Amino acid sequence: MQKVKVRSGIELVIVENEAEFAKAAADKVSELLKQKPNAILGLPTGSTPETMYAELVSRYKAGLLDFSQVTTFNLDEYVGLSDTHPQSYHSFMKKHLFDGVNIPSEARHLPSGETKPAEESAAAYEALLTKLGPIDLMILGIGTNGHIGFNEPGTPFDSRVHITSLAPSTIQANSRFFSDESEVPREAVTTGIGNILEARQIMLLAKGESKAEAIAATLQGEVTIEVPASALQQHNSVYVVVDKAAASLLKLE
Ligand code: GLP
Repeated sequence: MQKVKVRSGIELVIVENEAEFAKAAADKVSELLKQKPNAILGLPTGSTPETMYAELVSRYKAGLLDFSQVTTFNLDEYVGLSDTHPQSYHSFMKKHLFDGVNIPSEARHLPSGETKPAEESAAAYEALLTKLGPIDLMILGIGTNGHIGFNEPGTPFDSRVHITSLAPSTIQANSRFFSDESEVPREAVTTGIGNILEARQIMLLAKGESKAEAIAATLQGEVTIEVPASALQQHNSVYVVVDKAAASLLKLE
């Protein structure tokens, strides 16, 4: 494992393998919960954080972690999927984290994909975040196009919780979870970049060659709304965990 200071406010960890990836990410959560047992966590979905969640569940089962005072806010949810749909982010979280640890059910928050009109779901989630926030540690994955949450290229950095249309590349990337691309929802309710930047600390996770360009643009490129994750350069406490493939286009001394 190699630690690199990319720029002020951004610490980068490059790991050798999947086990190190899961450990580095879970260590960050564990450290926070030791200091602040009632921390508020911002949580991502996707393939990237799966092993971190598995590691957190195993630490909980081993008696090393306690989530009884934790509150969580997920980043996003597809519009139009019921909570129980197998590809909803509600189902993802239940399977990968919530069923395995002791976060009280009333302390787990995700935007609803079922509420109609969808704008009401966004407004309710924004109100809840304002009431309970700020988030202590916002954990993020990244899209190949640099999206965070479902904030696609072109999203203003001061955006709040909103309904967004998925970029064609995102629909294609996420179609692997559905039997056909036509089944991927076209819209999502997502926490805005403005909400993300209000978190006290941010942890960005990325794995694989397909994320290398997005990671280089995020950490060393121009700060531009065309690369939503480049907004993180404006934050003062960002911890980035990547594997060697995702780090391969970074210019490191
Ligand atoms: C989805 C989610 C993002 C996630 C991204 C990357 O579109 N909305 O929050 O970071 O995909 O997913 P993966 O980790 O599967 O590459």
